[in-house]
Amino acid sequence: MESGKRVLLIISGGIAAYKSQELIRDLHRREIAVRCILTDAGSYFVTPFSLAALTGDKVYLDLFSLTDESEMGHIELSRDADLVVVAPATANILAKMRTGIADDLATTTLLATDKQVMIAPAMNVRMWQHAATQENITILQERGMQVIGPEEGEMACGEYGMGRMSEPVLIAEAIENFFRNAGQTSEEPQKSLIGKKAIITSGPTHEAIDPVRYLANHSSGRQGHAIAKALAALGAETVLVSGPTQLADPANVAVKHVQSAEDMLAACEAALPADIMVCAAAVADWRVANPPQEKIKKNGVMPSLELIENPDILANVSQLAKNRPALVIGFAAETKDVVSYAQAKLAKKGCDWIVANDVSPETGTFGGENNTVHVIDAETIEDWPILSKEDIGQKLAARIATYLENIPT
Ligand code: C5P
Repeated sequence: MESGKRVLLIISGGIAAYKSQELIRDLHRREIAVRCILTDAGSYFVTPFSLAALTGDKVYLDLFSLTDESEMGHIELSRDADLVVVAPATANILAKMRTGIADDLATTTLLATDKQVMIAPAMNVRMWQHAATQENITILQERGMQVIGPEEGEMACGEYGMGRMSEPVLIAEAIENFFRNAGQTSEEPQKSLIGKKAIITSGPTHEAIDPVRYLANHSSGRQGHAIAKALAALGAETVLVSGPTQLADPANVAVKHVQSAEDMLAACEAALPADIMVCAAAVADWRVANPPQEKIKKNGVMPSLELIENPDILANVSQLAKNRPALVIGFAAETKDVVSYAQAKLAKKGCDWIVANDVSPETGTFGGENNTVHVIDAETIEDWPILSKEDIGQKLAARIATYLENIPT
């Protein structure tokens, strides 16, 4: 492969294993070579023959096979890869990874590896929501593993919910991003947020109407995710509290996936203390008071929704008496009088900076690649040119680093 990059792909036993074949093809299109370890359970869902044909390589199955161990033992398999990816990752393999069980070739390799590990979980919604799985995934993230997904949707078991493996293209993008970031070492800017901690909110929130319906908005989360990525790239310990989005988790960022504004606030509070807080999420202003436990029936009577106000995360964190981050940044999307509305918001919420997006139709910001912003603090207004959301993330991260370097400690 042209890029010289090599992924060791561990396929464990879930129905989503069929998607791993598409992942291999996608990675090849990106010039990334793939070698596979297939668990016993995985081999019920995809065959070693099809994986060997797709990868053009031997597929490794067995810890105690003379041919597997003498050709490429678990240590060599890890040594030979630039990145280890577990996709699909079942609840079982996550539990083994968390506790360090090494009872087959896949788990032994995962225990022996010193390479970055990326995990794409896939399982039934209740297995995903089980406290054991949630605890396992949190601990694996805290150990530095990158988690991609899962996503919400229809499941092979006929149920609906969180637990579907992310689409292969999203996993492939995350893998490509990992290599892009890793490749920057020689020209990397001086990391200036080492030792600092940042919390970023991103994406929309989903507010339950009943167990199957929700109120939401069109936020893609791209700007918030780009900021988290840029802060992590400058060396900050970064926690991204994300509402439901289609985006892959950025590398080197601990991602807390939440649904509602109340969950988002709780996750932010749990992540405090921090030096930096950036509220880029489009938090729903209202939620439904007392959503019923059962689906509301369509029986000719129009339901009426009583809405109550959601907590304002930005205002809450800005006004904390204890543990207030040194720098709290909010966003404001406006279509007219952008600067004056943003200045009013700065004062009302009590944050330090407001990044005001001009979302008037002529800017093409809404849903687009680019963004036009003004960065406003108590003294100054900076008008930034039209930039990509990634570039805004990097420029903002650099401005944050300069600010924190210059405040007296
Ligand atoms: O008041 P408005 O929604 O215009 O304020 C936008 C800013 O406040 C954004 O930074 C957004 O992330 C934050 N916000 C929040 N919690 C809310 C509403 C908005 O953190 N409930």
